[in-house]
Formats: sequence, C-alpha cells, structure tokens
Amino acid sequence: MLTQLLSADTAAIRVGGELLAQGALVGFPTETVYGLGANALDAEAVRRIFIAKGRPQDNPLIVHVADKEDAFLYGRETPLARKLAEAFWPGPMTLLMKKDPVIPDVTTAGLKTVALRCPNHPVALALIREARVPVAAPSGNLSGRPSPTTAAHMYADMAGRIPLILDGGACRVGVESTVVDVTGDTPLVLRPGGITPAMISAAAGKCRVADSVMRPLKEGEEAPSPGMKHRHYAPKGRLTVVCGGEENVIRRVRQIYDEGGSACILCADSHLKEYAPRRAMGFGDTDAQAAHSLFALLRQMDDMGVERIVCEGCEAQGVGLAVMNRLARAAAFDVETV
Ligand code: TXA
Ligand code: MG
Repeated sequence: MLTQLLSADTAAIRVGGELLAQGALVGFPTETVYGLGANALDAEAVRRIFIAKGRPQDNPLIVHVADKEDAFLYGRETPLARKLAEAFWPGPMTLLMKKDPVIPDVTTAGLKTVALRCPNHPVALALIREARVPVAAPSGNLSGRPSPTTAAHMYADMAGRIPLILDGGACRVGVESTVVDVTGDTPLVLRPGGITPAMISAAAGKCRVADSVMRPLKEGEEAPSPGMKHRHYAPKGRLTVVCGGEENVIRRVRQIYDEGGSACILCADSHLKEYAPRRAMGFGDTDAQAAHSLFALLRQMDDMGVERIVCEGCEAQGVGLAVMNRLARAAAFDVETV
C-alpha cells in the first residue's frame, strides 16, 4: 500500500475524513502524540488498527470525539466524569467510563469500560468532524516503539501499512494523555500525562494515582489498565535511568557511560557541559521540555545505533511523573537511585 504524507490543509483533512468513513486508517496529529485512527463504530476498521500496529488484541483503544458532549453518547455520564470533562476537554486527558453497547467489543478489547478523549488539536478536531464518526486511535507507532511526535516518525513506522498520514507539525505535549478512571467516586490515574494529579485534585477535590504507575506488575497481579502489561516505548539500546541528588547522578551517569560501547547520555541541557567530551544530548531544563522531547530522543538513539543509553531521571511529580513513567518502561524498570 502506498502511504501518502500530506500537509494537513482543508483538502487533505477532507480526504482523511472520507477514508475514515469508508473504514480505512488515517494517521493524524493531536496535542499529545500522533494517532492511528479508524471509525470506532466499525469493528472491521478497528481490527485493521491492531494489524497495522502489531498490537496485542487485549489492549483497548481510546475513542476520540470532536465535541465533549459526544463522549457521553458512548460512555456513561457520572458527576465525576462531567466535572473532569468540563475542566480539561478539549485536552490531553482520557476518561474511562462505562461503555455504551454501540461501541464494538473489539474497540475496548472486550472491557465494559470505554476510554474517551476530546483532543485539543485543530487538525484532529476537523478530521473527526469530517468523518462524522467517533475515531478510535492508539498512538501511531508500531507496537512497542516510542510514540510518534512528528509525522515523519509516524511515517517511519507506518509507511506501506496505511493510506494516509496528515502532517500537522510536532506535537506540543509529547507524551500521551493522562488516563483517568472515573467510574468510581475518586478519580484514579492509570497513566500519567500532561494533566497532572494536582490539576485533577484541584478540579475534583481528590485524586488517586494507581501505584503500578511507577513499578512493574507483580507476578499474577491484574493490570488496572491493559497497557501496563505490555513493554512500551522501548529503544533498541539498553537504557538505564539514574535518579537522585545532582552530584551523585552526574558521577553515576559518567561511570555507566565510561563502561564502554556505543553509548549516549540524555540529560538536562544545563548538565551537558558536565559530561564533555562524552556523547550527550539535552532534553531541556523543565519537565515539560523533557516530555516534549523524550520520544524523539529515544528514536534518535535508534537511528544513531546507540547501544547503551544513560538518562538522568527527574522528580516523579507533576508532568515529571509522566516522564518518569515512560522512562521507567522504556528502561524495563532499570532505574537506579543514587
Ligand atoms: O494521547 C493519547 O492518549 C494518544 C492520542 C493518539 O490520543 N493515544 C494513545 O493511545 O496513547 P494508546 O492506545 O497508545 O494508549 C491507550 C492506553 C493504553 O494503555 C490502554 O491500555 C488504555 O489506554 N486503555 C484504553 N481503554 C481502556 C479501558 N477501557 N480500560 C483501561 N485502560 C484502557
Ligand atoms: Mg501507545
């Protein structure tokens, strides 16, 4: 299949909408990462997503809507869901609600809940409106690879597998949406993202974070979200994350690097000089900058053939919690505290 990569102007978005309505797959930008979309109501179309990504069948998809009211057509409204939708949609937050039967089982991998999101990106919103259907979309990477934050990254993974990718530039947030279970009385964060637990607390009066967000599942433990079971965001090189006090971290990062091999350090921009003359790349100086650049840097490590990646950790708070959640998974939980 020939994959077109089109700048996301009105004409291209119209083509994308038609493709979606016909049951085909379309790559599109959101404010978090690029998504691989299909008509969420069309089981056949949704099956194509799992095939194109090589995604395990038991990992459910997020259903995207252009208007927050539409979310409540597909998920059962609760006061808590309403409160968070009003506070953060359109935006980088996904809400788990009880599923309406109109959503096919394949979309939710057989679960009784459905993940819904109203994204805050003009191209995503225009595309969903053109398609006139809710759009199921996982991140547009091959399963197990870092999520794409540019159209070129998505093309690298999906060329030959889907008919169209809409190029809307680099994604602003850079990590996937915050996934929040709102089926109970207290919001429960299953995947941290750009909407932080503190922001959710401020809107809802309380918020819990699933403790499996920062650790591997135990033997036989049931995953609150199927995504937690699967290895994610993995670069080809072996990645170690080092957390702790500044001086200790710098010393330990240098030490791991100096063990040899084709290595590269990922660090705060302000620390680049500490590692000279070693090979090092900066992820910015704030958690938001780190979130924005993380996946692109992991892809760059692969392109450069790096075999050993040593990355400075950040504090697992605010957007830093999302960064550390992705880093820990990319490192298969090889996270040291010094
Ligand atoms: O920012 C994002 O959320 C991006 C853009 C494209 O919107 N999408 C995204 O989708 O990251 P995906 O499929 O890569 O991640 C969806 C996550 C997975 O961890 C999945 O297990 C979880 O959401 N999920 C989806 N439906 C669920 C459900 N009903 N119950 C529990 N977890 C669910
Ligand atoms: Mg994904």
